[in-house]
Amino acid sequence: MQLHSLLPVVIFALSVHALPTRHHERGIFDSVGTLDNVLVFDAPAFPDPANPGNTLVNLQAFVSLRQIDLGPLTSGISAALKTLGLDVGNKLSTVEERIKLFGAIGLSGKTVKATVSGCSAQVQLNGTSGLPDLGMVLQTASLGKCGSGKESIAQVKTSGLDSRTFNATIFNSPNSGFGVISDIDDTVKISNVLDKLALAKSTLLDDPEPVPGMPELYASLAKSLNDPQFVYVSGSPFQLYPFLNNFIDTTYSASKGPILLQNLTLVDIPGLLDFAKSDGVQEYKVSMIERIHGMYPNKKFLAVGDSTQKDPETYGEAFNKFGADFITCSWIRRVEGADNSDERFAAAFKGVTAEKFRIYTDADIPSLANINVAGGEC
Ligand SMILES: *[C@@H]1O[C@H](CO)[C@@H](O)[C@H](O)[C@H]1NC(C)=O
Ligand SMILES: *[C@@H]1O[C@H](CO)[C@@H](O)[C@H](O)[C@H]1NC(C)=O
Ligand SMILES: *[C@@H]1O[C@H](CO)[C@@H](O)[C@H](O)[C@H]1NC(C)=O
Repeated sequence: MQLHSLLPVVIFALSVHALPTRHHERGIFDSVGTLDNVLVFDAPAFPDPANPGNTLVNLQAFVSLRQIDLGPLTSGISAALKTLGLDVGNKLSTVEERIKLFGAIGLSGKTVKATVSGCSAQVQLNGTSGLPDLGMVLQTASLGKCGSGKESIAQVKTSGLDSRTFNATIFNSPNSGFGVISDIDDTVKISNVLDKLALAKSTLLDDPEPVPGMPELYASLAKSLNDPQFVYVSGSPFQLYPFLNNFIDTTYSASKGPILLQNLTLVDIPGLLDFAKSDGVQEYKVSMIERIHGMYPNKKFLAVGDSTQKDPETYGEAFNKFGADFITCSWIRRVEGADNSDERFAAAFKGVTAEKFRIYTDADIPSLANINVAGGEC
């Protein structure tokens, strides 16, 4: 599920204080410089099927203008929250930190160069995108030969006199063994997506809170599945990446992994609303699972989600599309207030045998650790 109910708040803020939409063209293949900011996303690495010994990485970065006045956006958001009955009070700096990427101005035609610790090749991502994914680049690049460690650091340096570095973690995993595909909001983190006010609060103001028992469950899976590749697939906009990444890295430190989020460009409001539709989220998530399948066609994945939006439908579709050897099991958290009818789950998992999926309540969470997923149970 995702944070669609929050978007009107953001859009309201933007319509009050329109953001600049002109992107700064400084020529194709211009390197990242002192005037730019870079967000490098943690990324999955995998064996190159065409070249044994070589490792590939599916690396994404976002380059934006460094100096930007967030004042108008912050006051717009504060005003919008007030109309919802939420007083920002002394949390203004938290709000500003969480929303700052919504105010970022993407830059097209940028080249991002990264070195990856323990790997022999330098990575060069060529040319960040223009609209609609302004400033974004996602490419598969060769890392050459890498050491045996699971985690490496990708480090991007800016050119010129600027000594800033931008880091991300590269998670290297073989095309075998297990993985876990997990949703974030209301699966591992309490977001209250069914309640707009509570969602706005948990996303913009409050310290993030885990669904009780889930950090322990994922830590247990990290052992029982023998160091699986965790990949978090969420319909949330990429602008929330620093917030979500920090949450996963700290609260789910035993089950860290790349987080795949949607490119939602706020200069393209109709497109944004389109993405926010539940059907769009299912399509997006299935395409992310397809991306994961492209990297690790021989891994077996446990897919974990919840009943608030389209996770059952998404995982059911993925079962049917990629086979029960790829999605070997799916667990869906039953969230109070969502459609938890038998009819819904039967339709979502049509064509999937009943032993391959499980709808669980919060009370079931501790006992999920006893299921022998590695041995074929679900
Ligand atoms: C995000 O934008 C990049 C650059 O255009 C594109 O390659 C990538 O597929 C997009 N990601 C999603 C999830 O749409
Ligand atoms: C970017 O361009 C350089 C020079 O042409 C090339 O060596 C490199 O492989 C390209 N990067 C990607 C990710 O394709
Ligand atoms: C990035 O990683 C390098 C190499 O591990 C490290 O020296 C540097 O302090 C890191 N920078 C940041 C901003 O975390």
